[in-house]
Amino acid sequence: MTVKPIVLQDLPADLERERLPRHVAVIMDGNGRWAKLQGLPRMMGHRRGVDALKDLLRCCKDWGIEALTAYAFSTENWSRPLQEVDFLMTLFERMLGRELREMVQENVQIQFAGNLKALPRSLQGAIAESVAATQNNRGIRFTVAMNYSGRQEILQATRAIAHQVQQGLIQPDEIDEAVFERHLYTAGVCDPDLLIRTSGEMRISNFLLWQMAYAEIYITETLWPDFDRAEFHRALCAYQQRERRFGRV
Ligand code: IPE
Ligand code: IPE
Ligand code: MG
Repeated sequence: MTVKPIVLQDLPADLERERLPRHVAVIMDGNGRWAKLQGLPRMMGHRRGVDALKDLLRCCKDWGIEALTAYAFSTENWSRPLQEVDFLMTLFERMLGRELREMVQENVQIQFAGNLKALPRSLQGAIAESVAATQNNRGIRFTVAMNYSGRQEILQATRAIAHQVQQGLIQPDEIDEAVFERHLYTAGVCDPDLLIRTSGEMRISNFLLWQMAYAEIYITETLWPDFDRAEFHRALCAYQQRERRFGRV
């Protein structure tokens, strides 16, 4: 007798649909440690990490989550060995090419957060192509943070607004949170309700500093390549146990 693996295609019964996070953000950490534990080169961890992200995107879509944002490469990650950086850039480019058709079909709207101009030309091309091909999709909003820094994002928004002030388009007193948010990479996407970080690390690592103001933080020891639907289910259960007070009593 063969035992069928449990595929959690539908929202698990112990989760309340009305209390799901609208926006989930993930710091996909632990690819290198995963590979090391298997006696494999770090690159294999990154490859498996991409598979885990594809599964999570599909799961979010199946379970009715509106937005997913994934931290793929930070501005600080340039200081890794050149070979690893090159591998990651090539991996991202191949992935975008390979997954584009499915994303179009599955109504995914992909967008990117970060300083994209500093990425390799061919990767920039793949990014532009995927954004253009999915811009009219109205399913899940999938944001990939690439060459991303939360501080840099805040600085570039500040510069853009300062230029508008200089040109007399806006008065300094008119700069409020709504104006500021329009200049962030994530303009138009609600703030993350839930931040997941894998591999047990308890830090933000320069991710979505502005947007994370009231996110619930969930940290798991699981390494990113092992983060599957069952793990995501656990994270959502933990989230639904939380009482979000937003400063109230
Ligand atoms: C996360 O895994 C992927 C990226 C930062 C690109 P790591 O590569 O940071 O894995 P560890 O932390 O070394 O295990
Ligand atoms: C955070 O992971 C960045 C990404 C997941 C892309 P890192 O592995 O770079 O973070 P630190 O260095 O442990 O803070
Ligand atoms: Mg890491």
